[in-house]
Amino acid sequence: MRSPLVALPKTELHIHIEGSLEPEMMVALAQRNGIALPYDSVEAVRAAYQFENLQSFLDLYYAGAQVLQSEQDFYDLTWAYLQKCALQGVRHTEIFFDPQTHTDRGIAFEVVHSGITQALHDAKGELGVSSALILCFLRHLSAEAAMATLEQALPYRDSIIAVGLDSSELGHPPSKFQAVFDRARAEGFLTVAHAGEEGPPEYIWEALRLLQVSRIDHGVRSLEDPALVEYLVEHQIPLTVCPLSNIKLCVFDTMAQHNLKQLLELGLCVTINSDDPAYFGGYLAENFEAVESALGLLPEQLVQLAKNSFKASFLSPAEQQPYLQELTAYAASLA
Ligand code: HPA
Ligand code: ZN
Repeated sequence: MRSPLVALPKTELHIHIEGSLEPEMMVALAQRNGIALPYDSVEAVRAAYQFENLQSFLDLYYAGAQVLQSEQDFYDLTWAYLQKCALQGVRHTEIFFDPQTHTDRGIAFEVVHSGITQALHDAKGELGVSSALILCFLRHLSAEAAMATLEQALPYRDSIIAVGLDSSELGHPPSKFQAVFDRARAEGFLTVAHAGEEGPPEYIWEALRLLQVSRIDHGVRSLEDPALVEYLVEHQIPLTVCPLSNIKLCVFDTMAQHNLKQLLELGLCVTINSDDPAYFGGYLAENFEAVESALGLLPEQLVQLAKNSFKASFLSPAEQQPYLQELTAYAASLA
């Protein structure tokens, strides 16, 4: 029997839509688009998912994304993820997409954006899952390329709530993108950034001070800097922690060693997320289940994590209210 956590009302705030590409869909889209993959079966794709660090994952993740070509492909990818959300109590999701992964190989921004946003629109009506979209810049590419991507996104700004920063963290500090984020905020976008996944606490400070982010994506290395922990607690800056990702990418050796429980008990606004569920072995419910068993989290701590997910979202307090009420009622029914 599955844990009651599967049905816990929650939001997801750290999911790369390209990272929800399951091996089955990768193989099917390769066939549909006449693309040769370096694998001869779905099992071979899955067997290749053994990573030593972030970069070894990113190499496969960018290679896999090449099968995405048409608007329909982006629709199908996004729709499959949203169906998972509906089955796992995810009421609202704030999705990252990486336009440069596609525009750099000749796929138009419009194609990517249209496929994703049509699926998001349909999910609201058909699945009852609401959403927001966050454009991530690839930090291993130049600040000039990020600025050009921001300019491409301006005609679509009503459908993109925020910009973020992902890809290879080490050697690409947030400061590299200060001008791009200044411009993005001036154009009305909110900001988030991956920081403190593999990079040092200094990168988290930079994301806060120079990029003025609303949330830190990952942020698990914040524990190394007590002044930073104090700041994050005082300002209740959310961390979008991704437990299964952190184990798959060797940020922690085992789930029992993950610092999520410590972060929570220090009073940080911690949330649980799946990052790249097709690559890391689970969607949001599987991440909740994994930390529940490995860290011995109490029921009230799991409910707190779900509550944090709504509070850390870009939903307005009025929009959060019915979800928080539903969560309270669900928690009472479990007790
Ligand atoms: N970190 C950085 N970049 C990424 C990740 C991640 O966990 N997932 C997809 N792109
Ligand atoms: Zn991520």
